[in-house]
Amino acid sequence: MQAMRPYMVNAAALNELRITASPARSALTGSTRPETDVWAYDSQVPGPTLRIRQGEPARITVANKLDQGTTVHWHGIRLPIAMDGVPSISQPLIEPGETFTYTFTPPDAGTYWYHPHANSLQQLGRGLSGVLIVEEREPVSVDRDIVWMLSDWRLATDGGIVPGFGNAMEAEMSGRIGNTVTLNGVVPDDQPVQSGERIRLRLVNGALARIMALRFEGHRPVIVAINGQPCEPHEPEGGRILLGPAMRTDLIIDMQGEPNGRFAVIDDFYKGDLTYALTHLAYSSAPHSRKSTPDGGLRLPANPLPEPDLATAKRHDITLQGGMMGGGALKGVGGMSRMSMSGQADIAAWSINGMSMTGDGQAGMPPLLTLQRGRSHVLTIRNETAWWHPMHFHGHSLKVLSRNGLPVPHHQWSDTILFAPKDTVECAFVADNPGDWMLHCHVMDHQVAGLMTILRVA
Ligand code: C2O
Ligand code: CU
Ligand code: CU
Repeated sequence: MQAMRPYMVNAAALNELRITASPARSALTGSTRPETDVWAYDSQVPGPTLRIRQGEPARITVANKLDQGTTVHWHGIRLPIAMDGVPSISQPLIEPGETFTYTFTPPDAGTYWYHPHANSLQQLGRGLSGVLIVEEREPVSVDRDIVWMLSDWRLATDGGIVPGFGNAMEAEMSGRIGNTVTLNGVVPDDQPVQSGERIRLRLVNGALARIMALRFEGHRPVIVAINGQPCEPHEPEGGRILLGPAMRTDLIIDMQGEPNGRFAVIDDFYKGDLTYALTHLAYSSAPHSRKSTPDGGLRLPANPLPEPDLATAKRHDITLQGGMMGGGALKGVGGMSRMSMSGQADIAAWSINGMSMTGDGQAGMPPLLTLQRGRSHVLTIRNETAWWHPMHFHGHSLKVLSRNGLPVPHHQWSDTILFAPKDTVECAFVADNPGDWMLHCHVMDHQVAGLMTILRVA
């Protein structure tokens, strides 16, 4: 007689999901201000945390009940181009009233997220995003696995979202930074923790433009994965966890505070007045009941990423240009503007190797590079601008080799690499996934204003 395989049954149920995008209302500030009109998945901000299993087929049906076309991009997942959610490159828009089923088998476990790739500034900025967790076959042993989806809003005193997405001045500078940061959809109160517990904390920066640098006072978090991909467990440099828009960091934190202790989590990316306490870890009065620290190390199981062969790799140079300079002039932008979905001309304020692709991407735009499939490639990316950019690659994760000439430690792989002004980063990957893949800044204003291009793998 054949043994029962209940686990397979569960897996199938787990990987068959459905989400609906629609207008909704959400109490982002708790009870301090009226509810906000948002666009949301399943009427929740953020959308539901979707959990699927590594190496098993997932089917996720998206229903569109917005009054405009949308798509969903599964940020960071290495999947076929037809499932990547880029309008006109991957698929036509999911029109109002329509559904589309995304099917893919995630090769890599880790922390990912999903968001629209159409009218991105507004659709993401009004609340459409959620966390996607690809579960390891054998997860690291912790007491609790927690997600903090961080979002940034520009709210008026009446609770509404301040209009004016796509402001030209902001697009040339740091983008639309808001005035209200939410944690899992609400301006956070204290986060309850227990003395002695071990937590896996999945941080996701889902903001349009706000960069974050988090410090956990009184704690020593260990970074175990960056942008979904496991790294060598290490403590963050200077105790600060730097998170650009679209970036994720998985931490393991041993809650070593005493019962009743309270510790701030500070975001001090922007200095001075702009430093704020995101939330506090608030210890209950009870000590944890577990007798010993969970055994087993902190290292997550490796994902099956192809190792680039640096000796035979082809080398390419990519230069990020444009944006406002001290004197107020744009630098290095040649390209053209096209009409965006809203009918306004997008302004090309940024460029990559002298070309600006604006909006949400356009079919027929020539690729910046055509990369030979199956081959290793090294990209040297130079940020010539005076601004920060979280540069995101679709379809692949890249091994980050060096920053400003210094080797990058801890075996970091990334789909989103944060560039400080004037940074040069070298990264390498095997171009094993055929298609026209977006490379863009994830500061949404920068993307729609031209900091976007296509890498063709063929
Ligand atoms: Cu998270 Cu092209 O996007
Ligand atoms: Cu992506
Ligand atoms: Cu940017």
